[in-house]
Formats: sequence, structure tokens, C-alpha cells
Amino acid sequence: MEKLLFITSNQNKIKEIKTIIGDRVDLVGLKDIDWNTEIPETTGTIKGNALQKADTVFDVVGMNCFSEDTGLEVFALDGAPGVDTAIYAGDHRSNQDNMDLLLKNLENKKDRSAQFKTVIALKYNDQTHYFEGIAKGHIADNQMGTKGFGYDPIFIPDNFSLSFAQLTPQEKNQISHRAKAVAQLIDFLKTV
Ligand code: IMP
Repeated sequence: MEKLLFITSNQNKIKEIKTIIGDRVDLVGLKDIDWNTEIPETTGTIKGNALQKADTVFDVVGMNCFSEDTGLEVFALDGAPGVDTAIYAGDHRSNQDNMDLLLKNLENKKDRSAQFKTVIALKYNDQTHYFEGIAKGHIADNQMGTKGFGYDPIFIPDNFSLSFAQLTPQEKNQISHRAKAVAQLIDFLKTV
């Protein structure tokens, strides 16, 4: 079976995609190839960072691979935190501090609309393909719910009154940015 490398150390993400892809490809992660080097994310854009990660690893291992990058874009803040979503409140990457800072920066803003964006960059047989998934919504006034991770407690998806952190993983997976990007990747893999 053909091997495809998912550039992540997060075994949960690998497991999630494996169950959807099935036996079509042999999905492996960075741990499976003993990758221990930090991968730079310095391009300043979500799409650029996705490609940078894929290029960096491909240049060393030369196998078909894909990476994923996600950001939260808030319209009243000109798209911030965007590419800096993980480090919005500092390099310590605290979800709580990130959410607190975002709520503070939105205190006097009427427009709280926002979107999560995931870009997948796939290097496949010498070609690069991109798959993008967007979840539109708005930022809540306060944290709501405890499920999920990251900014989930303050993101309310369109057509819902609950935050991502109040939805079950199954419910979130039906509408999330990441699920939409992964669905496109899987559709592509079914054609090759
Ligand atoms: P990464 O690209 O998965 O590392 O995510 C970058 C940043 O976005 C991190 O701060 C994550 O916590 C946040 N993030 C990514 N996906 C989600 C999500 O589905 N819900 C909430 N926060 C997320």
C-alpha cells in the first residue's frame, strides 16, 4: 500500500483521518519516520506556512506528504490573530491567555464576525495541491463550554447559538474548517 506522510506529531489527528481514508493509503506521521527537528513556520500566511512545512519535510524525506495550518481570522481586527493564532498572547501558547486577549481586543467592537481557516498543502508525485476549509461564525462575549480545544469556547459557528466547545466532537466535525479541508483531501486521494 502506498505511504502518505501527514506532517504532524498529533496522533489523534492521524487517527481521525485514518478512519476516513480507510485502506486507500498507508497514513504515517512524523513519529513513524523518527522526525525530531523543529519545522519553521515563518512565511507570515496560513497557506505559506502550510507549504513551508510540506516543503521542509519533503526536501529531506522525499515522500508524498501533506501538512495542515489553521488560523482564526476576526474581521474587526483586520484578520488577526490569523497566522499568529497559536501565539496571539505570546510564545507560551496559552489557550486561556489567547482567548482573554481576543475578548479584550473586541470589547468595543460591534462586528464580532470571524472565521476559522484551515489550509492543507499536499505534495503528491511532484505536484503541490491545496485544500481550504472555512468555518464562519462570530466571537462570543464570554467563554461558553468546555469541550474541544484552542479557541473553541469563544467561537460560535453560523446557524448555531452554541460555541464549538458546547458541541459534541461529531457535531463539530460536520461543520469545522479542518473537516472541510480534510474532506477535499480525501476526495482528491480517491481520484488517484
Ligand atoms: P494548529 O495549526 O492546529 O497548530 O492551530 C493553530 C492555532 O489555532 C492554535 O492556537 C489552535 O489552538 C487554534 N485552533 C486550531 N484549530 C482549532 C479549532 O478547531 N478550534 C479552536 N481553536 C483551533
